[in-house]
Amino acid sequence: MSRAKPAAPRRPLIAGNWKMHRTASDTRTLIEDIVKRVDRVAYADIVVCPPFTSLPAAHETLGRHSIIALGAQTMHSAKEGAFTGEISGPMLREFGVRYVILGHSERRQFDHETDAKVAAKAIAAVHFHLRPIVCVGETLTQREAKETASIIETQVRSSLAGFPPDQLEELVIAYEPVWAIGTGKVATPKQANDVHQQIRKLLVSLFGPTGSAIRILYGGSVKPENAPDLMTQPDIDGALVGGASLDSQAFFDIIESARPARASDHD
Ligand code: 13P
Repeated sequence: MSRAKPAAPRRPLIAGNWKMHRTASDTRTLIEDIVKRVDRVAYADIVVCPPFTSLPAAHETLGRHSIIALGAQTMHSAKEGAFTGEISGPMLREFGVRYVILGHSERRQFDHETDAKVAAKAIAAVHFHLRPIVCVGETLTQREAKETASIIETQVRSSLAGFPPDQLEELVIAYEPVWAIGTGKVATPKQANDVHQQIRKLLVSLFGPTGSAIRILYGGSVKPENAPDLMTQPDIDGALVGGASLDSQAFFDIIESARPARASDHD
C-alpha cells in the first residue's frame, strides 16, 4: 500500500472499543488471539477497551509489559464518593488501565454525558494518569443541515474546557460521525479528513503548536476493507474501532493499514 502523506510525526493509534461485548472468560480468548497477531507490531500504539468487568481478566492475560494497552469506556470525574454504579480513575489504574474513552456518542445519547461532564472527566483522567480519548461527532440531521463544522467546534471547545496545557501530549481526540457508527455507512476518506483538518486547526488555535501533535482518530464502521483509504489521509492518525475490534483478524488487518510506508514491523 502506498502512503500518500509524508512521514507523520504522530504515531498511529488503533483502539478497539468493545462496547458491551464479551464476558471476562470470553475476554481472555479474544485478548490471546489479538496478542498472537500483533505481537511484533512496532509502528502503532494499540489499545483495547473491554467492559469494566472484563478489565481484570484482560489485564491478567496481557501481562505487565504487553505492547497492547488497556482502556476503559468511561469513568467518573471524582476520585470516590456516593455515585452508585460509577467507576473512578484510581479504580481503573489498579487494573493497569492507561486510556479512557470519554464522551462517546452512545454515552452522550443514552447517559446524558454533556460536553461539561466530558471536560471534567478529561481533566480528572490526566490527573489520575489516564489518557483521555475524547469523542466528538455530528448526527445525520446535523450533517444534512450543514451544521457539522459548528457542532464539532462546539464539542471540541467545550469538551476540552479547562484541560491542562501541560498534559496535551496525553490527549487523543476521536472523530466519530454518529451516522457512521454501527451502520456500515463509513465517512468517505475526504469527508473524514476534512473534519480532522478542521479539528487540527482548532486544536492549534486553542493550544498553539502543541495542538498539532495531538492524535485525531476516526471512528464509525471502520473495517479492513475501508481502513487503508482512511489511514492514508494526512490528518487521520488512527482509528477507534467498534464491531471489527471483536474479530482479532479484522482488528489486526486494520492495525496493518496504519503501517507507515517505509516502516518495518521491527523498527
Ligand atoms: P463501529 O466500528 O461498530 O461502527 O463503532 C464505532 C465506534 O463507536 C467506536 O467507538
